[in-house]
Amino acid sequence: MVITNSMTQQKSDQYLVYGNPIKQSRSPDIHKIFADENKIAINYQKQLVELGGFDSAVKSFISQGGKGANVTAPFKEDALKLSDSLTERASLAGAVNTLTFKEGKIYGDNTDGEGLVQDLLSNDVTLKQSRILILGAGGAVRGVILPLLAQNPKGITIANRTVSKAQTLCENFNDERLNACGFDDTTGQTFDVIINATSASLSGDLPPIPASVISSHVACYDMVYGKDETPFIKWAKEQGAIKTIDGLGMLVGQAAVSFSVWHNVMPDIQPVIERLRAAIQAG
Ligand code: ATR
Repeated sequence: MVITNSMTQQKSDQYLVYGNPIKQSRSPDIHKIFADENKIAINYQKQLVELGGFDSAVKSFISQGGKGANVTAPFKEDALKLSDSLTERASLAGAVNTLTFKEGKIYGDNTDGEGLVQDLLSNDVTLKQSRILILGAGGAVRGVILPLLAQNPKGITIANRTVSKAQTLCENFNDERLNACGFDDTTGQTFDVIINATSASLSGDLPPIPASVISSHVACYDMVYGKDETPFIKWAKEQGAIKTIDGLGMLVGQAAVSFSVWHNVMPDIQPVIERLRAAIQAG
C-alpha cells in the first residue's frame, strides 16, 4: 500500500514566462529563488510561443489552472490586448509583462518601470527632486515614465536621436515635469541621474551625448547588461560618473515586483542580483 501525504499530493501553483526566443530567460530561476526564500511553493516554467500563437497559449494555460504568467518579447502588446483589465502603469506603458488569472479574468500589469525604480533605490540613487535624463524614446522608455514620475523627481528630460518620438512620448503623458530634446540639446545641462534606454548598447554603440552631461555626482544607469561593461557604462566611468549601474538589477527588480503582485510579498533583490552576476561571469 502506498501512503501519500496530502501536502505532497497538492500541486504547486503554476506560472510561466512566454517569449520567442525564450531559452535565454532567467525568470524561472529568479522566481524559484524568491519562492524558496519566502517558503512559497510554485512551479514556474518557460514556454516558447510561435508568433501568432500567444492568445491560444494563454487560454490553454488558464484551462489547465495556470495562476499567472510573465511575458517577454515579442508578446507584450499581445498581452495588453488580451487583458480584461489593466493597471494604469501597464496602460500607459502600452505593454504588459505580468498576467494574473483570477476568477475567469485576465489582469494585465507592467512591472518593468517599477523594477527599474526598485533597482535605483536599492543602489541608493536619490530620485526625489532629482533631474533625470533618459536617453531613448522607445517602448522601454514608455514603460518607465510613470513609475519614475511617482518618485517625485524635479524633472525628466527625454533625449532621442529622433526628436519627434521623444516629443510624442511627452505629449502622451501630459506632465509638466517632462520635456523632450535631441542629444545635442543636453549640452550645458546638468543631471543627477542618466538612464540609457536606447538599444545602442546591444550593438556596441554609444548614444552621441556630450561628455559635459557627466558631472562628478551623476549616477549613470544602462538598461542593458552583459558579461562585459556596456559601452555606456564604460564611457560614463571614463567621464568620471560617481556611480554606474547596469540593467541586471532591473531584470531582477521587475521579477520581484511581479512576484509581489502574485504573492503579496516583495522579495529582496540584491542577493539574487549577486547570484546572477556570478553565474553570468562564470558562464
Ligand atoms: P525598446 O523597446 O528597447 O525601447 P525601440 O522601441 O526599438 O526598443 O527603441 C530603441 C531606442 O533606441 C530608440 O529611442 C532609438 O532611437 P530612434 O527613435 O531615433 O530610432 C534608440 N537607438 C537605437 N540605436 C541607437 C544608436 N545607435 N544611437 C542612439 N540611439 C539609438
